[in-house]
Amino acid sequence: MRLTPEAITAYQRFDSRGRPTVMTRIELTDNNGRRITANAFVPSGASKGSREALELRDGGRTYHGLGVSKAVKNVSEIAQVLAGFTVTDQEAIDQRMIDLDGTENKSRLGANAILSVSLAVARAAAEYQQVPLFNYLAELYHEPNPNLLPTPLMNLINGGAHADNGLVLQELMIVLVGAANFTEAMKMGTEVYGTLGKAIKASGVGDEGGYSPIFQPSANGRERIYNSLALLVKAIELSDYKAGKDIAIALDSAASEFYQDGRYYLDSKTSLDSAGMVEFYRELIREFPVISIEDGMAEGDEAGWKALTNGFVGGRGIQIVGDDLFVTNPLIFQRGIERGLANAVLVKPNQIGTLSETLKVIRMAKAHGYNVVISHRSGETEDPFIAHLAVATDAGQIKTGAPARSERVVKYNEFLDIEQIHLPRLELTPYYAGRLPFKV
Ligand code: PGA
Ligand code: ZN
Repeated sequence: MRLTPEAITAYQRFDSRGRPTVMTRIELTDNNGRRITANAFVPSGASKGSREALELRDGGRTYHGLGVSKAVKNVSEIAQVLAGFTVTDQEAIDQRMIDLDGTENKSRLGANAILSVSLAVARAAAEYQQVPLFNYLAELYHEPNPNLLPTPLMNLINGGAHADNGLVLQELMIVLVGAANFTEAMKMGTEVYGTLGKAIKASGVGDEGGYSPIFQPSANGRERIYNSLALLVKAIELSDYKAGKDIAIALDSAASEFYQDGRYYLDSKTSLDSAGMVEFYRELIREFPVISIEDGMAEGDEAGWKALTNGFVGGRGIQIVGDDLFVTNPLIFQRGIERGLANAVLVKPNQIGTLSETLKVIRMAKAHGYNVVISHRSGETEDPFIAHLAVATDAGQIKTGAPARSERVVKYNEFLDIEQIHLPRLELTPYYAGRLPFKV
């Protein structure tokens, strides 16, 4: 089935922060006269890596400068050049868009324009083949047996750029290592989320649905971190689970956000140098069942990343994840692998802007023994694409926020559909990653 110039259209829609985003729609008729419709949305980050592909915004006053009418218009230009391509020819389509854009970081057409088309094409191809999306993506990825449900890293306490509570670490997550399957992971995660909600007396929620505790004004940065982690452990135990054994903890520090002039600021008065920061993590790991640290160091602090990686990888089995560090970019990731930075990669399709490049990063990770964590953004939509991507590539881990707010829950519900409905229908036995990705 070939694309036509009229097949691809784009529209401005809204994300979970009420900000404009791009939706691309593909409408085609196959040889049998069957109508195929596929929509795809793009998400948007708040704590972005400096080397991410460019998200094109209109600027000016309307929508606080965040309108995407230029990106929407650019999809019309893309639609013209993609006419005649076969909808299943994902790599050629993505390459054609990269060439048409012609810049290093997709700044002419916008990564939001390009990615929305890239994802809509994949969904249209799956519709055309009448298979679930994960099944089609597995074909693209050359995974014959896409039956691994990822371990969720559920973000239950929000700080950093996602909340306004003086907690510098952006995300405190629970890792459902002890569940028997995804269904049980959801039971455990939602129970702890509910218990935590009762234990935190004064709180709103942050951008990813996790609680945003209000701390005593006198609490310093270090105390805010300790109190939050203690709250998490308490909520795990009050829910009758064993902290560490059944449910572990993961951090996303998003450290570039509190790094200035070579120092990490835990609050306005307290700062640590690189070595001090690594030592601080060592302390946290001693006190709490932390098994994964994402963006523990700032993206420009290579010596810090080396120290963090060398300090924790290996015998201690701590997962060190690069997000802003690698920005899902094959070239940047390659350099990181060569320098021995981190032992896991966070994968966000909109950091790079095409599905094919995203799949390439996942392949590279697997080839070099890096763990893969598929991730949402803080500004999300109702599109559950990443759930399918995670299963299709045997990624093993998913980060999609708290089990609250529908833009997060839609992904969790999609995994439940895959585990309970789609895999059994394909006569594949679902397998849950659990503790598998962690050498603990
Ligand atoms: P972002 O946060 O989407 O705001 O970048 C998510 C993350 O840092 O993992
Ligand atoms: Zn991150």
